[in-house]
Amino acid sequence: MKPVLDDNQIICTCVEATRADFVEAVRELDEPDFERLLTRTGLGMKCTACRLDLELLFTQTYQGRSVSGNGDAAKVNFREAERIPLHRRILRAIDRVAPKVNFMTAQLGIVLSSPDVSTRVLVSNDPPLFGAEEKMDPVTVRVVVRDASGKKIADEKKKVGSGELLNFDASAALPPGDGNRPAIGSFELYRSWARPTVRGTTRPQFVLVGSGGTGGVHTQAANGRGTQWYSAFARSGEEHTLIAVRNCERRPIDVAVGRPESCGSDTFIDDAVTIPTHGTHLFEVTPPPGSDADSIFPLRLNASGLNKNFIVISNPGMTSFSVDHISES
Ligand code: FES
Repeated sequence: MKPVLDDNQIICTCVEATRADFVEAVRELDEPDFERLLTRTGLGMKCTACRLDLELLFTQTYQGRSVSGNGDAAKVNFREAERIPLHRRILRAIDRVAPKVNFMTAQLGIVLSSPDVSTRVLVSNDPPLFGAEEKMDPVTVRVVVRDASGKKIADEKKKVGSGELLNFDASAALPPGDGNRPAIGSFELYRSWARPTVRGTTRPQFVLVGSGGTGGVHTQAANGRGTQWYSAFARSGEEHTLIAVRNCERRPIDVAVGRPESCGSDTFIDDAVTIPTHGTHLFEVTPPPGSDADSIFPLRLNASGLNKNFIVISNPGMTSFSVDHISES
């Protein structure tokens, strides 16, 4: 088999782990559980750029298909898993088909629309960085666009062939906002293949294309309910700090975004709203009074249900944007 990776090749630069470290960590698992591997080792948990390659390498290692530069196959024997009691294995199999946890499998992103900003959804279909596959199976991509109230306003299906790029205008169906504040909406994205195959580099991205500047980020699955934190810069008059929150539940959820009542205070002032089913809300946050220019202040987000949130920074005219998701670490 064609060598895939050298043993000393770094596969996750954030934790400086080599392929050999990875295979060793896989061997220490008592069952083939990718999520547990990541949480136990920290691999793929920071910038997440390596996740797709880790997933492929994990599968190859598990199947005995991972071959190093010196020709050794790194097959991992999961016989340990066979010692798990039968009833526990049956419950795990049921969980895989009908999970107990309410979870949304769609990839999610936000949509902004104004005369000065449109939102493009991009999905490529290229081979993975490390691997022998050259031609990818076509992927069918479905994009569902919703307005702020959660109403479906577009539902498109496109086939993306090997080496092709889907570049979809998700804001075309969303009427532009009033004044210079863009309308907010969201999209759900689903990918499917006609047969089991290698996923390749199909991680969807969305790009906020402003007349003054453009920013983008990859999509993600939903965040859980509870508290999450962002850090923001105090740049009144120079930037808008916006938090976009998409409700991923089949019921309304309560969301509050708060910042310290004054610089350095532990008391938070919340902006609280109820977001309708599948709706999206755009919070605008102002820095705590007394903040020094360019100082950093915390932002607290509390949600009563599954949601997907992004931080969006814009210039005062709302013509230039950057966007990011919350850090997992
Ligand atoms: S490269 Fe692996 S998490 Fe960043």
